[in-house]
Amino acid sequence: MFETLKPMPPDAILGIMTLFRADKDPGKIDLSVGVYQDEQGLTPVLASVKRAEKAIIEAQDSKTYVAIAGNAGFNSGIAELLYGKDHPALKGGRVATVQTPGGSGGLSVAGHLLARSKPNARVYVSDPSWPNHIPLLKMSGLELETYPYYDYAHHRVDFDAMVGKLDKAKAGEIVLIHGCCHNPCGADLSREQWEALTQLCERRGLVPFIDLAYQGLSEGLEEDAYGARLMASRLPEVVVVSSCSKNLGLYRERVGAASFVSATPEASKLVLANASNVARGIYSMPPDHGAAIVSYILHDAGLRAQWVKELEEMRGRLNGLRKLLVDKLAARKTPIDFSFIAKERGMFSFLGITKEQVIRLRDEFHIYMVESSRVNIAGINHSNVDTVADAIAAVLK
Ligand SMILES: Cc1ncc(COP(=O)(O)O)c(C=O)c1O
Repeated sequence: MFETLKPMPPDAILGIMTLFRADKDPGKIDLSVGVYQDEQGLTPVLASVKRAEKAIIEAQDSKTYVAIAGNAGFNSGIAELLYGKDHPALKGGRVATVQTPGGSGGLSVAGHLLARSKPNARVYVSDPSWPNHIPLLKMSGLELETYPYYDYAHHRVDFDAMVGKLDKAKAGEIVLIHGCCHNPCGADLSREQWEALTQLCERRGLVPFIDLAYQGLSEGLEEDAYGARLMASRLPEVVVVSSCSKNLGLYRERVGAASFVSATPEASKLVLANASNVARGIYSMPPDHGAAIVSYILHDAGLRAQWVKELEEMRGRLNGLRKLLVDKLAARKTPIDFSFIAKERGMFSFLGITKEQVIRLRDEFHIYMVESSRVNIAGINHSNVDTVADAIAAVLK
């Protein structure tokens, strides 16, 4: 029966990774992968994670299941991180949070819960967006549509076009919003735009579905939750999905959460029971190890402070590299003004060069990026930034 299956198109990023591995040039540079890298090009285990991991392994005396909704300490710690501990929705018993296998698992649980609450519900997804948003949410039976988000010509959020589309959405429809560090464009909503979007959701009865996969990597843990907190304080129903892949470097441990703000504590209980039931039907129980690490870190003042510092270093490196790259490109008097890169946040930005120029960078200069010209800023370091800037300037001549 398997012969009936259709061939799958190769994953664009995995294809570039294969080309990169096959390149024998010792000076090759990979700006395509979607993980954080340090100055040495490594994605290390955080010191705070190592310490928590040691303590957990020492103390662990059973590998029995934890719970369908996961680790309770993790769920409470993540909810506080998302909303702030004095948030009215949290204090009012209107938040239900379940641990999930990564942010992807969180999107899936949330997607199924939304589809169960409102069959054939429509979700508006930003164009562009993380390439897995649409296939992943399609699997939960939601109807998907895009809204314009990025103005490629001016390298900024096309807020008028976004609002123009969403202002035609119907009550009860859902808007998927990147909470910070937009993947792939790096252009985030300003506080004024969050305010306007909250008013729009209020006016039209839309439900925000916020993907906060990079909390702490833009401006700070509190600052990056600004939009999610604002919407959760003003709107009756909000969904927030978070991930510990990037901000704690726990990629392979698969740690994330789906968190739901409901209009009443009674509705919140229904949400928790149904989100647990959805999880039971997909994967039964979430993995424990990564969530146990996060819970340990969040509830231990010393480890938490160490993690916050490590996160600050990652963020500082990303924002510093953005500025450095802009300065290096400006010094080469490129025909494109790249100053927008320093205003964008997180790991990604579009350079805004053509596909042909991206291919030249790969074939002639051994610099690899996605064909859309999306680069992972963390792939740059102080040793390769001049090579990168020289090559970009050369293909723009
Ligand atoms: C915007 C966005 N959401 C969700 C995820 C999923 O992350 P996870 O690895 O935790 O499943 C990613 C990962 O790259 C992402 O960029």
